[in-house]
Amino acid sequence: MTIEEAIKQRHSVRSYADRPIEQEKLEALRASVDAVNLQGGLHVQLVAGDPKAFDGRLAHYGKFSGVSNYFAMIGPKGRLLDETVGYYGERLLLEAQQMGLNTCWVGLTFSKNPDVLHLADGEKLVCVIALGYGTTPGVGHKVKTIEKVTKAAAPLPDWFRRGAELALLAPTAMNQQKFTFVLRDGGCVEAKAGWGFFSKVDLGIVKYHFELGAVAGNFRWA
Ligand SMILES: Cc1cc2nc3c(=O)[nH]c(=O)nc-3n(C[C@H](O)[C@H](O)[C@H](O)COP(=O)(O)O)c2cc1C
Repeated sequence: MTIEEAIKQRHSVRSYADRPIEQEKLEALRASVDAVNLQGGLHVQLVAGDPKAFDGRLAHYGKFSGVSNYFAMIGPKGRLLDETVGYYGERLLLEAQQMGLNTCWVGLTFSKNPDVLHLADGEKLVCVIALGYGTTPGVGHKVKTIEKVTKAAAPLPDWFRRGAELALLAPTAMNQQKFTFVLRDGGCVEAKAGWGFFSKVDLGIVKYHFELGAVAGNFRWA
C-alpha cells in the first residue's frame, strides 16, 4: 500500500478485535519509534497488550472498545512539543495503516498506566494513538473545501493544491480542520494553527500530510 493509499483508507477506528499484532509488525513499528525519537527528540513508547489504559470510565465515554495497543506520545515539555508529536505521530500512524492496522488519535479518553509508561522529569504525555485490528475500517470524515483552508493568489500551483488535499484527509481533534496554509512568495508556505483543543498537534499532523502531497523541493516552510 502506498502512503497516499494509506491516507485515503485511514479513518479513526474506536472498536478493536481481539487479535494480537504480529511480532514482525511490532518489531518494524518499534524500529520506527526509535527513528522518530531520534529525529524528533521525543520519547514515544509503543505499548502492546495493555488493556488498562482504555478500560476506565473515560474510555467508555469515548466509545472505545478492545484497545490494548497504543503509541504513547511522550516528549520533553516545550513550545514545540505538541506540533512535533503531531508530525511524528502521524508518520507512525500512516506506517501502521500501510501494514493493514487501524488507528485513532486519542487526546482525552484514556488513563495513564504508570506501570507501563516511563516519563522522565520534564516530560509530558501529550496523547496516545490507539492501534490494532479494527472491527470495521471506519468511515470518512466531513471535509472542508480547499478554499477554506488555503490563502493564495489564484490559480493555485498543483503541488500546493495536492498538499492541501492530503492535509484535508488528515485526522484533526473533533474534525475541527482549523488549519490554514498560506502561499508566500518564492514557494514559501506558512502553516497556521487555529484556536481549539490540540490545534498544535493537528498542525503537526497536517504539515506531515502536506509535505507528502506537495513533495519536498517544490516548497519550503516559512
Ligand atoms: C489530536 C487528536 C485528538 C483526538 N482525540 C480524540 C478523543 O479523545 N476521542 C475520540 O474519540 N477521537 C479523538 N480524535 C479523533 C478525531 O475525532 C478524528 O480524527 C476526526 O473526527 C476525523 O475523523 P477521521 O480520523 O475518521 O478522519 C482525535 C484526533 C486528533 C487528531
